[in-house]
Amino acid sequence: MNVSEVTDPVGHLGEWIESARRRGESDAHAATLATVDPAFVRPSVRTVYVQIDGDALVFFVNTRSGKGQQLRWHPHAALCFFWRGLQQQVNVEGVVDLLDDEAADRLWAQRSHESTLVARSSEQHAVFGDLDAFHARLEQEHDTYSFHRAPRPDNWLGYRLLPTRLEFWATGWHRARPRYLFERAPGGGWQSAVQEP
Ligand SMILES: Cc1cc2nc3c(=O)[nH]c(=O)nc-3n(C[C@H](O)[C@H](O)[C@H](O)COP(=O)(O)O)c2cc1C
Repeated sequence: MNVSEVTDPVGHLGEWIESARRRGESDAHAATLATVDPAFVRPSVRTVYVQIDGDALVFFVNTRSGKGQQLRWHPHAALCFFWRGLQQQVNVEGVVDLLDDEAADRLWAQRSHESTLVARSSEQHAVFGDLDAFHARLEQEHDTYSFHRAPRPDNWLGYRLLPTRLEFWATGWHRARPRYLFERAPGGGWQSAVQEP
Protein backbone atom coordinates (compact mmCIF):
# COMPACT_ATOMS: atom_id res chain seq x y z
CA MET A 1 0.00 0.00 0.00
CA ASN A 2 1.27 3.46 -0.86
CA VAL A 3 -0.38 5.58 1.85
CA SER A 4 0.30 8.89 0.14
CA GLU A 5 -1.88 7.75 -2.79
CA VAL A 6 -4.87 6.92 -0.56
CA THR A 7 -6.97 10.09 -0.26
CA ASP A 8 -10.17 8.35 0.88
CA PRO A 9 -9.31 5.72 3.54
CA VAL A 10 -13.01 4.93 4.20
CA GLY A 11 -13.49 4.15 0.49
CA HIS A 12 -10.27 2.13 0.66
CA LEU A 13 -11.76 0.09 3.53
CA GLY A 14 -14.81 -0.52 1.30
CA GLU A 15 -12.46 -1.89 -1.37
CA TRP A 16 -10.86 -4.24 1.18
CA ILE A 17 -14.31 -5.49 2.27
CA GLU A 18 -15.32 -6.10 -1.34
CA SER A 19 -12.02 -7.81 -2.09
CA ALA A 20 -12.44 -10.06 0.99
CA ARG A 21 -15.96 -10.95 -0.17
CA ARG A 22 -14.78 -11.79 -3.70
CA ARG A 23 -11.99 -13.93 -2.30
CA GLY A 24 -14.46 -16.06 -0.39
CA GLU A 25 -14.31 -14.65 3.16
CA SER A 26 -17.63 -15.44 4.84
CA ASP A 27 -19.25 -12.41 6.50
CA ALA A 28 -16.66 -10.10 4.94
CA HIS A 29 -18.65 -7.07 6.15
CA ALA A 30 -18.90 -8.24 9.78
CA ALA A 31 -16.79 -6.42 12.37
CA THR A 32 -16.30 -6.39 16.12
CA LEU A 33 -17.94 -3.29 17.59
CA ALA A 34 -16.48 -1.90 20.83
CA THR A 35 -18.53 0.50 22.93
CA VAL A 36 -18.10 1.97 26.39
CA ASP A 37 -20.45 1.30 29.25
CA PRO A 38 -20.63 4.78 30.77
CA ALA A 39 -21.95 3.56 34.11
CA PHE A 40 -18.89 1.41 34.79
CA VAL A 41 -16.40 2.89 32.25
CA ARG A 42 -15.78 -0.60 30.89
CA PRO A 43 -15.39 -1.75 27.27
CA SER A 44 -17.95 -4.04 25.71
CA VAL A 45 -17.66 -5.90 22.37
CA ARG A 46 -19.78 -7.93 19.93
CA THR A 47 -20.08 -8.55 16.16
CA VAL A 48 -22.21 -6.43 13.82
CA TYR A 49 -22.68 -6.18 10.06
CA VAL A 50 -21.26 -2.94 8.68
CA GLN A 51 -21.79 -1.12 5.41
CA ILE A 52 -19.85 1.77 3.93
CA ASP A 53 -21.95 4.84 3.16
CA GLY A 54 -19.88 7.73 1.78
CA ASP A 55 -17.47 8.85 4.50
CA ALA A 56 -19.20 6.83 7.24
CA LEU A 57 -19.56 3.22 8.42
CA VAL A 58 -23.17 2.28 9.18
CA PHE A 59 -24.70 -0.52 11.23
CA PHE A 60 -27.92 -1.53 12.99
CA VAL A 61 -28.52 -1.62 16.70
CA ASN A 62 -31.43 -2.89 18.74
CA THR A 63 -32.14 -0.02 21.15
CA ARG A 64 -32.74 -2.48 23.98
CA SER A 65 -29.36 -4.21 23.53
CA GLY A 66 -26.25 -3.38 25.57
CA LYS A 67 -24.69 -1.43 22.69
CA GLY A 68 -27.99 0.36 22.07
CA GLN A 69 -27.95 1.66 25.63
CA GLN A 70 -24.23 2.43 25.59
CA LEU A 71 -24.16 4.33 22.30
CA ARG A 72 -27.05 6.44 23.49
CA TRP A 73 -24.96 7.81 26.36
CA HIS A 74 -21.43 7.49 25.02
CA PRO A 75 -20.93 8.14 21.29
CA HIS A 76 -17.31 6.96 21.02
CA ALA A 77 -16.96 3.53 19.39
CA ALA A 78 -14.43 1.36 17.56
CA LEU A 79 -14.72 -1.36 14.92
CA CYS A 80 -12.27 -4.15 14.09
CA PHE A 81 -12.51 -6.06 10.79
CA PHE A 82 -10.50 -9.27 10.50
CA TRP A 83 -10.34 -11.48 7.42
CA ARG A 84 -8.72 -14.71 8.50
CA GLY A 85 -8.01 -16.15 5.04
CA LEU A 86 -6.32 -12.93 3.91
CA GLN A 87 -4.59 -12.22 7.25
CA GLN A 88 -5.75 -8.61 7.04
CA GLN A 89 -7.18 -6.37 9.72
CA VAL A 90 -8.57 -2.84 9.81
CA ASN A 91 -9.23 -0.94 13.05
CA VAL A 92 -11.48 2.09 13.00
CA GLU A 93 -12.18 4.61 15.78
CA GLY A 94 -14.73 7.39 15.71
CA VAL A 95 -17.90 8.98 16.95
CA VAL A 96 -21.41 7.76 16.13
CA ASP A 97 -24.67 9.52 15.44
CA LEU A 98 -28.12 8.25 14.56
CA LEU A 99 -29.29 7.81 10.98
CA ASP A 100 -32.58 9.43 10.10
CA ASP A 101 -35.50 7.09 9.33
CA GLU A 102 -35.11 7.37 5.56
CA ALA A 103 -31.43 6.37 5.63
CA ALA A 104 -32.13 3.58 8.16
CA ASP A 105 -34.90 2.19 5.93
CA ARG A 106 -32.56 2.27 2.92
CA LEU A 107 -30.00 0.28 4.89
CA TRP A 108 -32.65 -2.13 6.19
CA ALA A 109 -33.69 -2.84 2.59
CA GLN A 110 -30.17 -4.11 1.87
CA ARG A 111 -30.36 -6.84 4.56
CA SER A 112 -31.26 -10.37 3.54
CA HIS A 113 -34.91 -11.36 4.03
CA GLU A 114 -33.94 -13.94 6.68
CA SER A 115 -31.85 -11.46 8.68
CA THR A 116 -34.74 -8.96 8.78
CA LEU A 117 -36.99 -11.67 10.24
CA VAL A 118 -34.38 -12.71 12.81
CA ALA A 119 -33.88 -9.07 13.79
CA ARG A 120 -37.63 -8.60 14.25
CA SER A 121 -37.87 -11.76 16.37
CA SER A 122 -34.90 -11.22 18.71
CA GLU A 123 -35.14 -9.70 22.14
CA GLN A 124 -31.57 -8.70 22.73
CA HIS A 125 -32.18 -7.23 26.17
CA ALA A 126 -33.29 -10.57 27.62
CA VAL A 127 -30.39 -12.00 29.64
CA PHE A 128 -31.86 -15.50 29.73
CA GLY A 129 -34.08 -15.39 26.68
CA ASP A 130 -36.72 -18.00 25.99
CA LEU A 131 -35.42 -19.80 22.85
CA ASP A 132 -38.75 -21.54 22.18
CA ALA A 133 -40.52 -18.18 22.27
CA PHE A 134 -37.92 -16.76 19.85
CA HIS A 135 -38.48 -19.64 17.40
CA ALA A 136 -42.25 -19.20 17.68
CA ARG A 137 -41.89 -15.47 16.88
CA LEU A 138 -39.56 -16.27 13.96
CA GLU A 139 -42.05 -18.77 12.54
CA GLN A 140 -44.80 -16.19 12.88
CA GLU A 141 -42.64 -13.62 11.03
CA HIS A 142 -42.02 -16.17 8.23
CA ASP A 143 -45.77 -16.71 7.90
CA THR A 144 -46.55 -12.99 7.90
CA TYR A 145 -43.81 -11.98 5.48
CA SER A 146 -43.64 -14.96 3.12
CA PHE A 147 -44.48 -12.81 0.07
CA HIS A 148 -43.17 -9.37 0.92
CA ARG A 149 -40.35 -7.78 2.89
CA ALA A 150 -40.74 -7.07 6.57
CA PRO A 151 -40.57 -3.43 7.65
CA ARG A 152 -37.88 -2.15 10.01
CA PRO A 153 -39.09 -2.37 13.60
CA ASP A 154 -39.09 0.84 15.69
CA ASN A 155 -36.44 -0.52 18.05
CA TRP A 156 -33.91 -1.10 15.22
CA LEU A 157 -31.95 2.09 14.73
CA GLY A 158 -29.19 2.76 12.25
CA TYR A 159 -25.98 4.34 13.51
CA ARG A 160 -23.22 5.83 11.43
CA LEU A 161 -19.69 6.00 12.68
CA LEU A 162 -17.63 8.89 11.37
CA PRO A 163 -14.02 7.72 11.62
CA THR A 164 -11.32 9.85 13.23
CA ARG A 165 -8.67 7.15 12.81
CA LEU A 166 -8.18 4.06 10.61
CA GLU A 167 -5.36 1.56 10.84
CA PHE A 168 -4.74 -0.97 8.04
CA TRP A 169 -2.67 -4.04 8.81
CA ALA A 170 -1.72 -6.92 6.55
CA THR A 171 0.86 -9.62 6.21
CA GLY A 172 2.45 -10.22 2.89
CA TRP A 173 3.60 -6.74 1.91
CA HIS A 174 6.43 -6.79 4.37
CA ARG A 175 7.60 -9.60 6.60
CA ALA A 176 7.77 -7.23 9.56
CA ARG A 177 4.13 -6.10 9.12
CA PRO A 178 4.05 -2.30 9.22
CA ARG A 179 0.73 -0.56 9.96
CA TYR A 180 -0.79 2.13 7.78
CA LEU A 181 -2.44 4.91 9.74
CA PHE A 182 -4.90 7.61 8.71
CA GLU A 183 -6.04 10.33 11.11
CA ARG A 184 -8.44 13.17 10.55
CA ALA A 185 -6.47 16.36 10.01
CA PRO A 186 -7.58 19.41 12.06
CA GLY A 187 -8.48 21.37 8.91
CA GLY A 188 -10.23 18.43 7.15
CA GLY A 189 -8.79 15.68 4.98
CA TRP A 190 -6.51 12.96 6.29
CA GLN A 191 -2.99 12.70 7.65
CA SER A 192 -1.30 9.40 6.88
CA ALA A 193 1.72 7.59 8.24
CA VAL A 194 3.43 4.24 8.10
CA GLN A 195 4.13 2.84 11.53
CA GLU A 196 7.08 0.48 11.55
CA PRO A 197 6.69 -2.59 13.76
C1 LIG B 1 -21.99 -12.34 12.03
C2 LIG B 1 -22.86 -11.60 13.03
C3 LIG B 1 -23.48 -10.43 12.65
C4 LIG B 1 -24.28 -9.73 13.56
N1 LIG B 1 -24.85 -8.56 13.16
C5 LIG B 1 -25.53 -7.82 14.06
C6 LIG B 1 -26.04 -6.54 13.68
O1 LIG B 1 -25.85 -6.07 12.55
N2 LIG B 1 -26.72 -5.82 14.63
C7 LIG B 1 -26.92 -6.33 15.91
O2 LIG B 1 -27.55 -5.64 16.73
N3 LIG B 1 -26.46 -7.54 16.29
C8 LIG B 1 -25.76 -8.29 15.42
N4 LIG B 1 -25.25 -9.50 15.78
C9 LIG B 1 -25.50 -9.98 17.17
C10 LIG B 1 -24.53 -9.24 18.13
O3 LIG B 1 -23.20 -9.74 17.95
C11 LIG B 1 -24.90 -9.36 19.62
O4 LIG B 1 -24.91 -10.69 20.02
C12 LIG B 1 -26.27 -8.74 19.95
O5 LIG B 1 -26.49 -7.60 19.14
C13 LIG B 1 -26.36 -8.30 21.41
O6 LIG B 1 -25.21 -7.56 21.77
P1 LIG B 1 -25.11 -6.45 22.92
O7 LIG B 1 -26.17 -6.76 23.96
O8 LIG B 1 -23.70 -6.54 23.44
O9 LIG B 1 -25.37 -5.14 22.32
C14 LIG B 1 -24.46 -10.23 14.89
C15 LIG B 1 -23.80 -11.40 15.26
C16 LIG B 1 -23.01 -12.08 14.35
C17 LIG B 1 -22.30 -13.34 14.81
